[in-house]
Amino acid sequence: MWPAIRNKFPAGPSEGLKRWSLGPLNNNPLEYFTKVAREYGDVAGLRVLNFKTVFINHPSLIEEVLVTNARKYSKGRVLRANRHVFGEGLLTSEGDFWLRQRRLAQPAFHRARIASYAATMVDYTERMVEGWRGGEERDAHQEMMRLTLEIVAKTLFDADVERDAQEVGKSLELLLEIGANFRRTIFVPHWLPTPTNLRVRREVKQIEKILYRIIAERRASGRDAGDLLSMLLSAQDEDGSRMTDRQLRDETITLFLAGHETTASTLSWTWWLLARHPAVQAKLHAELDAVLGDRAPTLDDLPKLRYTGHVITESLRLYPAAWGMARLAVEDHEIAGYAVTKGMGVAMAQWVVHRDPRWYDAPEEFRPERWEDDLLKRLPRFAYFPFGGGPRQCIGNAFALMEAALILATIARKFRLPLVANHPVVPLASITLRPRHGVRVTLESRQPKETANSFGEQSVVAD
Ligand code: HEM
Repeated sequence: MWPAIRNKFPAGPSEGLKRWSLGPLNNNPLEYFTKVAREYGDVAGLRVLNFKTVFINHPSLIEEVLVTNARKYSKGRVLRANRHVFGEGLLTSEGDFWLRQRRLAQPAFHRARIASYAATMVDYTERMVEGWRGGEERDAHQEMMRLTLEIVAKTLFDADVERDAQEVGKSLELLLEIGANFRRTIFVPHWLPTPTNLRVRREVKQIEKILYRIIAERRASGRDAGDLLSMLLSAQDEDGSRMTDRQLRDETITLFLAGHETTASTLSWTWWLLARHPAVQAKLHAELDAVLGDRAPTLDDLPKLRYTGHVITESLRLYPAAWGMARLAVEDHEIAGYAVTKGMGVAMAQWVVHRDPRWYDAPEEFRPERWEDDLLKRLPRFAYFPFGGGPRQCIGNAFALMEAALILATIARKFRLPLVANHPVVPLASITLRPRHGVRVTLESRQPKETANSFGEQSVVAD
């Protein structure tokens, strides 16, 4: 399929210092990578200063990198440069150490275990909307951030961080924002006492204080809460040694970060898309009314809430929270006939692949219906990969999908979130893809309609 062109670097753009720091790669990476794919096709060579990256845009090449040749790569430079925040947590660690931690954490994400989190997800969402009043203006993104942070804390660490949530949330947001400045992350060593680095240190300390407290309380109580923290605490190496507080801190900070901002952003984009597509919103409401009537959703409802699921799937296609991913080659090999040498980067972008007309009709349109006839099964495996793939696939995949669907159903049953006029909603492609200025909405209460038998016949009740 790919020609043999050994030892040549693929054609593509070259970025000098000035163009790189002030140009589109830094300022609008979504547009930049879309253009590169359009101009150079499935494989493009990107030179930034003297660093070479192969940018791949074909599902089978992505599968080669993430699955078939996964051992030939380590995580990319941005994640590695953020190690002083994540430490040796699941997202950033490598090799045998990562494998051991992944095995230890995996049971907390098994289907049966996740099922037990469903009620907490709905309860916390209900509690949030109880405080909402029709006519109020809110930032849907802030609301989702606070909610998902509380949920991840409660489900994985059995910690009620409501009182700390805002503080932790703010610190995490700041860290993400700073970490997302690729220029500074890669070129300014984190130990230099620059004002930004000092700020990062302060914010990390702030979060650590809370995490170490949660860990200490659990150690002291000796109780097995059956959650992730208990599993990590009781896990033992063959030599009988247990995890240190530092290791526990690395895993908890990783899960707090990886586990709340991504789901919150997915929901924020979903509210924004729904507000702009009234027919989709009406169909969603009709399904919720038919399946739930005037009660809150449970885990057992999810298989029946098919359209709700398609809304999330489609939202993750158009606005994937992980909009792009990178790896570093740890040994020499080939991609599509091109030589990849040790130390070279490989990058891929969900943002680009998910909008490729080879896989999707009218790719720019928000159409949850496209997922109705098992589209996922018909697509090439990596034409849709919001959770990555291979051994480093997102451990929270099922957790996130369940959480997003339950939160969406719980809120949409009771509220519409029309957009506040003239508020700009623009994607910010930082480590994750989030709305730069939030999503300002006006809360609008709604009552379930009695459509209990009509949804099956696809009759949508405009409300
Ligand atoms: C819509 C929500 C989410 C999206 C789009 C998402 C996306 C991703 C992606 C693409 C990766 C792979 C990164 C790579 O290979 O370089 C990843 C890894 C990871 N995610 Fe998620 N994620 C989401 C939610 C969650 C949740 C809810 C949790 C935990 C509660 C979580 C925890 C993690 C962890 C720990 C890793 C690293 C796994 C490893 O390397 O072993 N994520 N996520």
